[in-house]
Amino acid sequence: MKLTENIPFANLSYRLTLILLLNLHLLNAQSWTDVKIDSLINLMTVEEKIGQLTLFTSDWATTGPSIRGNYLDDIRSGKAGNIFNAHTSAYNAKLQKVAVEESRLGIPLLFGYDVIHGYKTIFPIPLAEAASWDLVLIEKSARIAGEEAAAGGLHWTYAPMVDIARDPRWGRIAEGAGEDVYLGSQIAGARVRGFQGDDLAAPNTILACAKHFAAYGVAQAGRDYHTVDISEHTLWETYLPPFKACVDAGVTTFMTSFNELFGVPASANQYLLEKVLRDTWHFQGFVVSDYTSINEMVNHGFATNNEEAAKLALNAGVDMDMQGAVYYDYAKDLLMNGRISEQTINMSVKRILQLKNKLGLFDDPYRYSDDQREKEIILSENNKAAAREIARQSMVLLSNKNQTLPLKSTEKIALIGPLVDSPIDMLGSWHGSGQASDVISILKAFTDQTTNFQYAKGCDIEGSDTTMFDQAILVAKNADKIVLVAGEDFTMSGEAASRAKIRIPEIQRELLKRLVALKKPVILVLINGRPLCLPWETEHVDAILEAWQPGTMAGPAIRDVLYGEFNPSGKLPVTFPIDEGQIPLYYNMKNTGRPMDPNQKYTSKYLDMPNEPLFPFGYGLSYTTFQYSMATVDKTEIERDDSLNFKITVTNTGHVGGQEITQLYMRDMFASVTRPVKELKRFEKFYLGPGESRDVKFTLSIEDLKFYNQELNWEAESGTFLFGIGGDSNTDLNIRVNLK
Ligand code: BGC
Repeated sequence: MKLTENIPFANLSYRLTLILLLNLHLLNAQSWTDVKIDSLINLMTVEEKIGQLTLFTSDWATTGPSIRGNYLDDIRSGKAGNIFNAHTSAYNAKLQKVAVEESRLGIPLLFGYDVIHGYKTIFPIPLAEAASWDLVLIEKSARIAGEEAAAGGLHWTYAPMVDIARDPRWGRIAEGAGEDVYLGSQIAGARVRGFQGDDLAAPNTILACAKHFAAYGVAQAGRDYHTVDISEHTLWETYLPPFKACVDAGVTTFMTSFNELFGVPASANQYLLEKVLRDTWHFQGFVVSDYTSINEMVNHGFATNNEEAAKLALNAGVDMDMQGAVYYDYAKDLLMNGRISEQTINMSVKRILQLKNKLGLFDDPYRYSDDQREKEIILSENNKAAAREIARQSMVLLSNKNQTLPLKSTEKIALIGPLVDSPIDMLGSWHGSGQASDVISILKAFTDQTTNFQYAKGCDIEGSDTTMFDQAILVAKNADKIVLVAGEDFTMSGEAASRAKIRIPEIQRELLKRLVALKKPVILVLINGRPLCLPWETEHVDAILEAWQPGTMAGPAIRDVLYGEFNPSGKLPVTFPIDEGQIPLYYNMKNTGRPMDPNQKYTSKYLDMPNEPLFPFGYGLSYTTFQYSMATVDKTEIERDDSLNFKITVTNTGHVGGQEITQLYMRDMFASVTRPVKELKRFEKFYLGPGESRDVKFTLSIEDLKFYNQELNWEAESGTFLFGIGGDSNTDLNIRVNLK
């Protein structure tokens, strides 16, 4: 569909050209684009400018209270310049036509949507993808999601979510890359590159959005939207780096978070938005608020009313108001009575128009609405194959006693559980416009490819109905091995989905206990959006496969792994605690003045619980085994301009080929600000055939030894550093290096 010849848009171009000619003298100082955009801003009324700062949801979906119903009138009058939750090529072209042909200036709309882990072809949830530690595949997943979204008429995704999360009770842990700063930052960059590609004007790339700025993942007690109270050091050391990685990767937009930071809600936080984002990182794009987060400053007890909230947000540098309608309602008055300046408004309008221009919307506002491309690209065989591959690479084998897995085709399998045939739950939270009907369930994959199995649902995901137990037990009794697929439904993680108890729901655990009592090999396949506490399960079942919420191709991917057609290689991007009482529990904690000593009462420990997790960060098994040689380093005394070269030999000592993810950890023993007991510094993922060896090499420089000192300067201090290389974060740090 090409509608560029429409009259008002041509009018706009014509008028802009005229104005440009009059402004040619400005070209020495500014770029052509800047002059063009400034000229457009000169044509705009105050209402039209505020319209560009306004983002309304369409009536297709909401993720919070819906405020406005008449958004079509608002588009027509130029009072709504951006729309989210509207998608498909045809629908968005229809809305675009209203903006371009019926509004006075014909400025094209910007369409946003939460394309978090896929648009129609749904990939594993981001936490799962992080478990692949595969930056190439993660970038590819975002690339495909971006391509599909762009073919569906979209320009902008609200992703990546780069909040480091160390509290698995928080449901939104599903949307991020887990607990680690280094891994999280690498993945943040990969996702931005994936969505945005090399050229924003290409019709298959979209704007990315780094969210939620900042520290949203530290909600107290893991309760969504709760208070955040952290030190400036922790902010810089742990929560800001993935956002900085997004800026370095060229991210074009930022979203503020719902929480407060240092007592100031993020949507009015000048420290974050001015000092960090604009002044320190020189971010050039625009900032959007989260859904009504500006209005919520009244509830925070920070702004006395919505008008003041609008003033605070605008003055702090929130360029666009998502759904709150506070700019819409109050910005004009604020401007008229001098509480905000015209320059502030113009600056925000300019940032937004600049990105509309970069997307090529001024050249062709319908560039992203192409019915043909939509038909060809969305859910294509290639995209589904990629989703299957990424899902397999994301799965983590947590235990495998007596090599219970992989299953053999000769074995009779009892396939049991409420998630075996529950397509929607494979998609996880924030599944875009992905549909259950496009999902290949586990039951379907088994039915298509396996003859030697029987299925029984056993129970619902939650509730107390045990009437289906007997049928499941009957099926189990008739089998050689029992596969129970258990876990959470798709609404049990994600936004506003915190859980105080992060167990498999009780009814499913009861069923599991009955199955275990049969004394046959039991394999637990987990479908879930967060770490779960699984102490009983780990002790009593024979194998556990963490499959997460694997997306559209869940069934084939899970079946591939269960039958050894794919050897699992994922490693946990987040710690699995034994018990909720240990939370927060993460690998790079500080040592404390009284580190745990089981024989000393007055040390940092519990009376009723170990300090250790059930499964540590970086952990994951394979159907083969890997042996590590002693690691070596080329120098043990270094100067500041030296590099450190590490080497270790990894050997596949088993009978099948497999991938290993080798990890390098560091500890700075003494520093002017205490350092964590371990920090991930490098990793490498590679394949080894049976019996094959590989020398894995890592190089570090002084940059990798730096931290934020007492003055918050990024520096390395002389002294002793320990290093260790291995297959998870339990690796011993046995290499000592001294920095002069
Ligand atoms: C979420 C954001 C999301 C927005 C738009 C909010 O509730 O916090 O992450 O992008 O809704 O759907």
